[in-house]
Amino acid sequence: MTPSSTASNTLPAARLRGRLTLPADKSIAHRALIFGALSGGPSSVSMRAPGRDVVSTLACLRDLGVTIEQSGDRYAISGRPSRDARLDCGNSGTTMRLLAGVAAGLPLRVTLDGDDSLRARPMERVAALLRAAGADVTTNDGHSPMTVVGRSSLTATTHTLPVASAQLLGAAVLAGMSATGETTIATPGSTRDHTERMLAFMGVPIHRDGPLTTVTGPSRPKPFDLKVPGDPSAASAWLVAAALHPDSELTMVDIGLNPTRLALVGLLQRMGVDIQTRVCGVSGPEPVGEIRVRGGNALRSASIGGGEVADLIDELPLVAVAMASVEEPSEVRDAGELRVKETDRIAAMVAGLRVIGAEVEELPDGWRVRRGVPQRGRIATHGDHRIAIAFAIAAVSGVASAVELDDPDCVAVSYPGFWDDLAAVRA
Ligand code: S3P
Repeated sequence: MTPSSTASNTLPAARLRGRLTLPADKSIAHRALIFGALSGGPSSVSMRAPGRDVVSTLACLRDLGVTIEQSGDRYAISGRPSRDARLDCGNSGTTMRLLAGVAAGLPLRVTLDGDDSLRARPMERVAALLRAAGADVTTNDGHSPMTVVGRSSLTATTHTLPVASAQLLGAAVLAGMSATGETTIATPGSTRDHTERMLAFMGVPIHRDGPLTTVTGPSRPKPFDLKVPGDPSAASAWLVAAALHPDSELTMVDIGLNPTRLALVGLLQRMGVDIQTRVCGVSGPEPVGEIRVRGGNALRSASIGGGEVADLIDELPLVAVAMASVEEPSEVRDAGELRVKETDRIAAMVAGLRVIGAEVEELPDGWRVRRGVPQRGRIATHGDHRIAIAFAIAAVSGVASAVELDDPDCVAVSYPGFWDDLAAVRA
């Protein structure tokens, strides 16, 4: 049988070759749309093939009274959030947490809800931050639906985040922009810094100094035009596929190269993979360029933990697949946050890796894994896009002998063109 791949049954590829243009970076796209709405416009955001999460943010902003007109890849934004609403955030934690921060600083009553996965995720952390700034926030026993009754003038305060989370940081910054004076947010570790870069670019007085971010309010972004670069987290699928495949060379173009998003590149290099990045320009405040990866090198095992984890958080399912290709055991620790993502990603990865024959041990905050004998099997994705993509790549690269996903369509949460791109690179 010729190796092939469909959304429902993925087999090892004979070779991988190609140049890929990725969907718009999800983290930057959410923020660009939200900051555009806060600017009052006219602002515009250009973004390629946004996933369902970004479309949720777009729909929520429209429900809040913002005008967003689409023409091809360009979204023209005018008007500010101006009406009470019940928002459907779908599967998107970033939408819910950032829009809670927006709602806190507006004289509106906004209820934020989502699908079953999002309803299971922790919202008390964000509620507590917004209450400290003076908003009235109620949750459903720490979960959504969450109702925010905001005020146009909040209290500037100092927050210490319980976890290194760019979503919590973003929510606290958004509330801080409606407070008078300096709001300072201390994080226990590094997080992606798109909020700070983008707001500074749009004229908001904000800066990050190590673990401290300070924003001075009241402030709002100036209108802007921004093209969102390709998503490095979507590119991660191809980095791992090519790294593990003996006959591969893939190039990702027009991709965001923000250093807080490139921890996977560093990790794979440490494991022995041939990867080059090249900055070719900027998109607003974000560096943009190319990543090229070639397979064929034997991979070394790796151990990761501590401060390294937050910048790798979305890539850890793919990291598990890379680790499962190596004879020596590898380990991930300090990644307990994975248990409260779209699904419990530690449990889902450990279960799936067992199905495909890897030798894996579940740890409270990660896993220990080594290569086994590749098997074919059906994977429970729990509707989680990153789990689905990780196991598709396990099959493409030969870590599994074949994989059938129970919900192949869920990749569209972040990467609607994933199956087409897979067909193109293995053709
Ligand atoms: C995101 C931050 C990360 C990441 C998520 C997107 C963001 O979450 O997992 O996919 O855009 O701020 P945390 O930083 O909250 O862990």
